[in-house]
Amino acid sequence: MKKIAVLTSGGDAPGMNACIRAVIRACVHYNLEVYGIHRGYQGLIENEIHPMTASSVANIIQMGGTILKTARSKEFMTPEGRKKAHENLKALGIEGLVCIGGNGTYTGAMIFEKEFGLPSIGCPGTIDNDLWGTDATIGYDTAINTAMDAIDKIRDTADAHNRIFFIEVMGRHSGHIALHAGIAGGAEGIFIPERGNEFADIVKLYEAKARKKEFSIFVVAEGEEEGHAYDIAKKFQGIYPDSDCKVTVLGHVQRGGRPTANDRILASRLGAHAVKALIEGEKNQAVGVVDGKIKFTSFQEAIEHKKDIQDNLWTLNTIITR
Ligand code: F6P
Repeated sequence: MKKIAVLTSGGDAPGMNACIRAVIRACVHYNLEVYGIHRGYQGLIENEIHPMTASSVANIIQMGGTILKTARSKEFMTPEGRKKAHENLKALGIEGLVCIGGNGTYTGAMIFEKEFGLPSIGCPGTIDNDLWGTDATIGYDTAINTAMDAIDKIRDTADAHNRIFFIEVMGRHSGHIALHAGIAGGAEGIFIPERGNEFADIVKLYEAKARKKEFSIFVVAEGEEEGHAYDIAKKFQGIYPDSDCKVTVLGHVQRGGRPTANDRILASRLGAHAVKALIEGEKNQAVGVVDGKIKFTSFQEAIEHKKDIQDNLWTLNTIITR
């Protein structure tokens, strides 16, 4: 293998730049030519492929976002789009890809390999932490710290006004961000799609008057099956008309910002290992860290399995959120 390319796809995540940097620097280390593809698979189709050097990635480890930009490409889902993408790679003699992103990114890389035999290694880049085959995804640690910071700030004003806040966090269909940020932020209740009856439990808690708190913080995952934060707040207000309920949707603030040290280190390890794996002839694999060690998981397995929340943390949550 002499030439490889790297792209970021799907939602950006803090630490993606650290991962790109590690990929480029590892290529330089192993004497590979390396290209950066702008705007993910869409840029691959539109031939936005540029040579990169060690200095192209200087001074980016601390930046959020992705210097390569990203996109959710509908065209890459079509055989015609993928054919164009392959022609562009072939013209440049690119023999392997490092694809940084989430489930959709892995799926694209897997189909592309099946059709054209071009090997890819995936690095898990998403704030949602919903990828099988790694304990944490790149961007997740930064996102939970951002959410925790916001919860701390909302707590000040909730306390000052004796208000009940319902804070909605991202995570698509998963509750990892909600559970971790909720525990770290001292939430009185956490709503996640992986578990049920949270609303009934909270009402039970209020009815039992187990505590005399005048304000409360509830964290709601955006994928919660009982509804969005607004729906849950409305339901709560309906039962307790005298309560002063407010809703804050944290939204895309969770996607930005300087990556934490954990995210930078994770991203650097994974990016460098992805390059090594391509050189060693691996393909169709996602690289992750499990129990501190590098682990490879096939794209198929990574896509098929849903990563559950940590049961011990949910138990802890039921004990300490009172
Ligand atoms: O996958 C990351 C994520 O931020 C999810 O948590 C969220 O549901 C989604 O992306 C939002 O996507 P977009 O930025 O395209 O609106």
